[in-house]
Amino acid sequence: MTYKISEILEQGRLATSMIETVRDTTFSPISEKKSPVFNLNHLLKIVDIDRYEFTKRSAKGDLPLGVKINPSKTEFTLSEIRSWAQAYGRSKPLGEDEEAVTICVANSKGGVGKTTTSMCLGQALAMKGYRVLVIDLDPQGSLSSLCGLLPDTQVDESETVLPLCAGKYNFSEDPEADPLPVLNLDYAVKKTYWDGLDVIPSAPVAFAAEFFIPARQLKREQGFRFWEILKQGIENIKHDYEVVIIDCAPTMSYLTLAALWASDGLIMPMPPKGMDYASSAQFWMLFTNLIHEISKEVGTDEDGNLIAQKEWEFINVLLSMVDVSDPNTLKVQSLINATYAGMVLPVEIPKTSVTSGSALDFSTVYDITKYAGSLKTYERARVAYDRVVDLVEQQVKKVWEDRANRK
Ligand SMILES: Nc1ncnc2c1ncn2[C@@H]1O[C@H](COP(=O)(O)OP(=O)(O)OP(=O)(O)O)[C@@H](O)[C@H]1O
Ligand SMILES: [Mg+2]
Repeated sequence: MTYKISEILEQGRLATSMIETVRDTTFSPISEKKSPVFNLNHLLKIVDIDRYEFTKRSAKGDLPLGVKINPSKTEFTLSEIRSWAQAYGRSKPLGEDEEAVTICVANSKGGVGKTTTSMCLGQALAMKGYRVLVIDLDPQGSLSSLCGLLPDTQVDESETVLPLCAGKYNFSEDPEADPLPVLNLDYAVKKTYWDGLDVIPSAPVAFAAEFFIPARQLKREQGFRFWEILKQGIENIKHDYEVVIIDCAPTMSYLTLAALWASDGLIMPMPPKGMDYASSAQFWMLFTNLIHEISKEVGTDEDGNLIAQKEWEFINVLLSMVDVSDPNTLKVQSLINATYAGMVLPVEIPKTSVTSGSALDFSTVYDITKYAGSLKTYERARVAYDRVVDLVEQQVKKVWEDRANRK
C-alpha cells in the first residue's frame, strides 16, 4: 500500500476536525474553557488566612464577598480570589523599574511533564495574585491547548514567536505590503480564560522559526545573535508581569537555547525512569556545551573573562509522573538524587489519572475543583502541585530580594 501526499493531507484535515468536534462537545455549550468557581475554604487556603480574619476583613467592605448560593455556601470567582490574595500580599506587585522572573521549563526528552508543569505554575501563581505570562515554544501547541486555544485552528502564525524569529513580518491583510521589523513579542500576547494568566501561543506553522533563525545567523545579519532573540523579545513585556514561564519543545533547538539564555531559573521535569534519566544527562551536556560555546563566541573582556557568562538564579530537577507501583522507581530516584544533589525539589509529582481522560488532556489539576473520582487521588496530585508552586514562589521572591540587594 502506498500513500500520496494529498491522502496524508486529507488525513491531517480529518484529525483536526475530529479534535475540534471533541473539543466543542467537551467545552459545550460555548466551546470555551472557563476557570472554576471557588468556595470559602479554597479562598482561605489560597490567601492563607483563617475564618476569623476573613470575617473581620469582609466587614471593611473593600474586598469582593462572592455570591451566596445558600446560607452555608458562598462562591468566588478567580478574579475575586486574586483580589484577596493581592490584598494579603501573597503576590508582590513589581515597582516600575522591576521586571519579571523568567523561568524556562525544559528537557529534550518528550512527554516528561514540561507543559503540565508550566501550566500548573502559571495557573497557581496567577491564583495567588501574580501576573503571569506563559510562552509556548512548542509547535505542538500543547500549552496553547491548555490555555483554551486550539493550535491548528485558533492560532495564526502571526500570533506566535514566528514573526520575531523571522525578524520582519507582514502583519497586514495586504500580501503585497512591506514586512515590518519585529524586535519584541508585544504583538503576540493574548489574554486567557484564566484571570491573571496571559499566553504567547504556538501552532504547527511556528516550526518555521527553526529555519529562519539559522538563516539570519548565516547571513550575519547586523547585530543578530540567535541566542538573544527571546531575551530581547520579552525585554519590554517583562515589566508587565511578575513571572514569565517558557515551555520548551522536546528538542535542543535554537528556540530552546534562546529560552535557556533568556531565563533566570530553569525547571527540568524528570520522571524517575531509566530512559528519562539517561536522556536527561545528554540534555545537560548538550546545553551546557552550547551555552559555553555561545559565551566564547561573544568574546572576552580586557582581563580575559567571558563577557556573556550565563548564570541561573535557580535550577530545579522536578520528579514528575512518579509511579510508586513501579519497582524501579526508588532505584532511579536515588540515582537522580545522587546526580543532581541540591537541585532536586523536595516533592514528587505522582503519576495520576486526575487530568487524563478529562477534557482530552486539555485540563490540569487546577481546572478541577470538584473531582468525579476518588478525593484521595485528587488531593494527592493537588497537594504535590501546590508544594511545587510554593517552592518555586519562594525562589522567585528570593530572586527579587537578591536583585534589590544588588542595587
Ligand atoms: N502527573 C501526571 N500523571 C499522569 N499523566 C500526566 C502527568 N502529568 C502530565 N501527564 C500527561 O502526560 C502527557 C505528557 O505531559 P506533558 O505534555 O506535560 O509533557 P511534555 O514534557 O510537555 O511533553 P512534550 O515533550 O510532548 O512537550 C500528557 O498527556 C499529560 O496530560
Ligand atoms: Mg510539552
